[in-house]
Amino acid sequence: MNHILSARDFSKESVEKVLTRAKELESAYHAGTLPKLLENKIVASIFFEPSTRTRLSFETAVLRLGGQVISAENAGGSSSAYKGETIEDTARILSSYVDLIVMRHPEAGSVQRAATVATKPVLNAGDGANQHPSQALLDLYTIQKEHGTLEGLSIVCIGDLLYSRTLHSLVPLLLEYPNNSFHFVSPAELAIPQEYKDMIIKMGGTFTESMDLPSALTGADVVYMTRVQKERFSNMDDYERVKDLFILKSEHLTTMKDSAIIMHPLPRVGEIDPAIDLDARAAYFRQAENGLYVRMALLVHALGL
Ligand code: NCD
Repeated sequence: MNHILSARDFSKESVEKVLTRAKELESAYHAGTLPKLLENKIVASIFFEPSTRTRLSFETAVLRLGGQVISAENAGGSSSAYKGETIEDTARILSSYVDLIVMRHPEAGSVQRAATVATKPVLNAGDGANQHPSQALLDLYTIQKEHGTLEGLSIVCIGDLLYSRTLHSLVPLLLEYPNNSFHFVSPAELAIPQEYKDMIIKMGGTFTESMDLPSALTGADVVYMTRVQKERFSNMDDYERVKDLFILKSEHLTTMKDSAIIMHPLPRVGEIDPAIDLDARAAYFRQAENGLYVRMALLVHALGL
């Protein structure tokens, strides 16, 4: 079964396959020649956590490719999960209705559990603070498109590195490519978990950690901003204390390379000053658009088409 659950399931070869397919689909989309690869396919999009880009770009991708979608956008409140049904039972039932399941859930490991009983491919659209593989692949696609390479880059990751599932998926994928160095800027409470540091060392990459944003920005090729994940905090005072510690402002732009790009999985809630949107290096809206092409490629990949 071609589940897409974690970035770690991807070899460099399978990453390249998806990125190449995304590029072909993007060109076909702009040329108006997109093949109806998902004709007669039904995809279930079941989200137990809020989403704008991930859910709507997946659903658009299905529709653009000629497939159909059934959707539970507030599955925690509107599906039988509200009555106490397990994620496993939900996955079993959906498997008998549709050809593929796209699922987001607040609990780490839950989408993987759903996949163990599903008889159709399951695509993890984010499970708690754990993984968000489709986001990381669209992030790679964006870096490749903007920089022309995925190697030898200095990647500065800023904000909530503890709970950012997008980074937890992006770091392993970037480690498939040589000579990438990571610079983590966060408050100590939101530092990147040890397992990612161990992974970087094991894969021959390098990293630094600091709280000095201006210095970290100087050599950056990729500036990856994140939102402090309010929904993962049990104590709102803790959230308030850290939420505004690292904000990218116009004055920072002067210290950055002309070739740098600024990324953010979005939504942003104040960590990037909107004045930066006008700068050519602001890549986050282009990044969000790329989600459509990469998610088309992932759907096709998971269905073996
Ligand atoms: C991210 C997520 O859900 O993890 N959003 C997204 O999918 N583009 C990041 C976030 O919510 O902060």
